[in-house]
Amino acid sequence: MNSTDAITIQHGDWATLGPVASEIRRVVFIEEQAVPRHEEWDGRDDDCVHFLAWQGERAIGTARLLPDGHIGRVAVLIEARGLGVGRQLMQAAIEVARQRGHTHVELAAQTHALAFYESLGFEAFGDEFLDAGIPHRNMRLSLAG
Ligand code: COA
Repeated sequence: MNSTDAITIQHGDWATLGPVASEIRRVVFIEEQAVPRHEEWDGRDDDCVHFLAWQGERAIGTARLLPDGHIGRVAVLIEARGLGVGRQLMQAAIEVARQRGHTHVELAAQTHALAFYESLGFEAFGDEFLDAGIPHRNMRLSLAG
């Protein structure tokens, strides 16, 4: 990866972005994190707005926004982490949620990523729970004001 290339964020529907987004999610969630395939492909992608982070010609991260204001499937390729890509994906998803009139956004954070979401203003609520065998907590960000 050429670190001098600017990162750009694209958003669109699953028909357009799915072929590229699904490859990133396969590598990060199914291969790296051992999420079962049937849990990763949950049938909700057609209903979501999808986000892709590009560095030059290469897609390096993805996320999705569900119609109910939940953000999920936030994934950055391992070699591109720590460069602000996840932050830019989240900021883009939050902005689209705001444009759609959501008063808040929510997500289920893997507990190792709590500090990542806290740095974007999210606050955890409720108890820890397991999803795909991975510990999670629900988090919320108010978009009011
Ligand atoms: N723990 C603590 N802080 C973290 C962190 C982590 N695991 N990952 C990022 N941060 C912090 C960064 O230090 C940075 O803070 P700063 O702006 O104050 O310096 C901020 O969060 C933004 O980091 P960024 O570089 O944009 O994050 P990233 O591009 O590496 O993406 C993830 C973060 C979580 C999306 C990425 O690590 C990933 O894809 N992990 C595997 C998949 C996953 O677990 N997804 C989350 C599912 S809930």
